[in-house]
Amino acid sequence: MSLIAHKVHKTLGEPPTKVLTDINFEIKDGEFVALTGRSGSGKSTLLYLLSSLDTPTQGYIEIDKHNVSQMTKLEVCKFRNEQMGFVFQFHYLIAELSALENVLMPAKKAGLADKKKNYAQDLLKQFGLADKPHRLPRQLSGGEQQRVAIARALVMQPKYLFADEPTGSLDSHNSEVVMNIIREANQNLGTTVIMVTHDVGFAKQARRQIHLVDGKVVSS
Ligand SMILES: Nc1ncnc2c1ncn2[C@@H]1O[C@H](COP(=O)(O)OP(=O)(O)O)[C@@H](O)[C@H]1O
Ligand SMILES: [Mg+2]
Repeated sequence: MSLIAHKVHKTLGEPPTKVLTDINFEIKDGEFVALTGRSGSGKSTLLYLLSSLDTPTQGYIEIDKHNVSQMTKLEVCKFRNEQMGFVFQFHYLIAELSALENVLMPAKKAGLADKKKNYAQDLLKQFGLADKPHRLPRQLSGGEQQRVAIARALVMQPKYLFADEPTGSLDSHNSEVVMNIIREANQNLGTTVIMVTHDVGFAKQARRQIHLVDGKVVSS
């Protein structure tokens, strides 16, 4: 199984500007890929397309042999909730929910909140948050919030993990913690990881780099 971009183009804005041009590649199950390129090169846009949060202007994305644009909205939502984890630079935790409740959100949507509770607590423990499950996001530091967001992304043990500059707002210690967690998910759980980063060191830890220049893949 794999994630494939077929002749993908993306135009955005008014007047329309070409953001991505003729993107073609295949990412196989279990790969750890860094998406690299300068600011404005189209990394986030490409990650949104790959993770079905947005649709190409031309071409299509294929996930596990399904053309995403031919799936119904409901199918895409279910697939996304159960098979994909997302980590963004700004983590969008729900302010009124505790750390544990935030982590359990995808499980709750799938009707699995009870079943996943122990695993969610386990993840928080692994991430050094064993004693803070009931804190609200505002009662946690930035690094702690980011770890909660990653625990939420992993709680369904997703097949795919999409991360957009997951260490972008963290200090070097917390960046290491987060990178270790992501690497472990890849190595121990076989999670396919696609991570946007402009940190050269972290990009090197990925086994493969897809490098963008002005919306085009120049090496993959
Ligand atoms: N909604 C939008 N409308 C118009 N242009 C956009 C929009 N979103 C992004 N862009 C442009 O597309 C290009 C790529 O953006 P982005 O994917 O965010 O790059 P990166 O993540 O590599 O910094 C940039 O030039 C950006 O200004
Ligand atoms: Mg970006």
